[in-house]
Amino acid sequence: MRLGLPVRRFDAIVVGAGGSGMRAALELARAELKVAVLSKVFPTRSHTVAAQGGVAAPLANSSEDNWHWHMYDTVKGSDYLGDQDAIEYMCRRANEVVVELEHMGMPFDRLENGKIYQRPFGGHTQDYGGAKMAMRACAAADRTGHAMLHTLYQQNLRASTQFFVEWMALDLIRDPQDGAVLGVTALEMETGEVSIFQAKATLFATGGSGRMFFSSTNAFINTGDGLGIAARAGFPLQDMEFYQFHPTGVYGAGVLITEGVRGEGGYLLNKDGERFMERYAPNAKDLASRDVVSRAMTTEIKEGRGCGPNADHVLLKLDHLGPEVINRRLPGIREISIKFANIDPVREPIPVVPTAHYQMGGIPANYLGQVVAPEGASTESIVPGFYAAGECSCVSVHGGNRLGCNSLLDLLVFGKSSGEQMIKDLRGLPRPQRNLPQDAGGFSRARLARFDLTGAGESVAEVAADLRREMQAHCGVFRFPDLLAEGVAKVTKIAERAGRIWISDRSKVFNTARIEALELQNLVEAALATVTGAHARQESRGAQARADFQERDDKNWLKHTLWYKEGNRLAYKPVHLKPLTVESFEPKKRTY
Ligand code: FUM
Repeated sequence: MRLGLPVRRFDAIVVGAGGSGMRAALELARAELKVAVLSKVFPTRSHTVAAQGGVAAPLANSSEDNWHWHMYDTVKGSDYLGDQDAIEYMCRRANEVVVELEHMGMPFDRLENGKIYQRPFGGHTQDYGGAKMAMRACAAADRTGHAMLHTLYQQNLRASTQFFVEWMALDLIRDPQDGAVLGVTALEMETGEVSIFQAKATLFATGGSGRMFFSSTNAFINTGDGLGIAARAGFPLQDMEFYQFHPTGVYGAGVLITEGVRGEGGYLLNKDGERFMERYAPNAKDLASRDVVSRAMTTEIKEGRGCGPNADHVLLKLDHLGPEVINRRLPGIREISIKFANIDPVREPIPVVPTAHYQMGGIPANYLGQVVAPEGASTESIVPGFYAAGECSCVSVHGGNRLGCNSLLDLLVFGKSSGEQMIKDLRGLPRPQRNLPQDAGGFSRARLARFDLTGAGESVAEVAADLRREMQAHCGVFRFPDLLAEGVAKVTKIAERAGRIWISDRSKVFNTARIEALELQNLVEAALATVTGAHARQESRGAQARADFQERDDKNWLKHTLWYKEGNRLAYKPVHLKPLTVESFEPKKRTY
């Protein structure tokens, strides 16, 4: 016992039960290791369930394709900020992990010949950015993430992974000697009790932080928990300023309308009925990469060509696809449009706006899932016992802008590679666990005790609402210098207020007020990292579009940002421009 907290010991702990967490856990459990997966929600409700359009893999089922082209598109899509060794690694393993999933029983749509159905997606091309789009998105209708999550959950049950459902991780436990990660503290929502989960290997697969924005495609659970925990434990967060706005969120509701709609032949219109993407991306048009399409839509709206009484959205037209295609390939989209926009897309276009969707940054990790910490100006060391995969990590395969369908691929490839690496590391370690520090769990207990002892302070709901409003206003699709400076000041104040939040309900059993307070304390760290990094980066690259520095500046800014909580400080580190086996893709002007 440490500070009266029960200790639960495992070979490995996985925090988060989305695609990457479950893929890693499966690897570990199949190796007969004792693995615990902690999840705030029932595993099949993790945010991966919301992924719609597909998972990228150059299977070449419907168009010529290969991993070299996929790699080129991903490097270009990243606006050359992606690490090319990691991108090569991901693209080379794409077919393997998708076929493996197929063999696990994933219900992909099928072509006439029985092969996996693939559709085009933004920024995925043939022949190194040639005129033809690649059909690379392997799809299960428009519910690919849903199908993937259920497949992985069933396989984990079969492999005897132990799930801790409705448990929220609180803080990391580190060895004071060498900084190794020894596990986490976690709170059981049902009872309100806190336990220590100890293991020689801890993987964070906690997802993104999209709830920092007012209009978001993200689930309510996406509160940057892993990021907040890592930042409090002294780890930097990498490239957080690169936050992706998905072009098509339902106007007014934010719910995702898959890019698969445009992959199937849908297109965007302004108030004049003009197919405006032809002007911004003459070749790829509506299937240009997301940053390009989101900026084009925002420009149309800003210049008065938006639709509706307030000219504040554009339209996504797909009725010409016909009910047969819509019902077969896009049934979820039809349902979402009817429910959230009161529009049946079989007859009318869907009102859409760019909506916060995906965080390219995160906890710095290599392509084997090992968390890395900077050591001097250009080297880094591996943090013993700590791994990260999926959206909470920054590997960095997405660089400044992620291509659609590369996130489900990232989950599979790096979930698997981190599981493999954990197994390897565990086999090389001495059998007994290290001793926990005497005060293990003390920090978490103190954080929780504050809520029990404080009788007044800031309202969680108000601070959270202010955070979302300010992030939306100050750190959106286009970024302005004065708004960014103001944003840093405002979010810094909000972070201070988040340190003074209080809750009136002190009960322990399913106290969701307490969970929301803890989530907010994680979210503010992610938001501060995002706006601080955006303010400092004086260039436009990928999702960072500065009004005052409109060009990419490779001379000064072809580097990764590292944000530290302590002192709200920034540092930088080089991009890995050298792939594993092929020639580098040199930065060049990015057009679609
Ligand atoms: O548009 C979509 O279906 C989203 C896919 C993604 O974010 O990869």
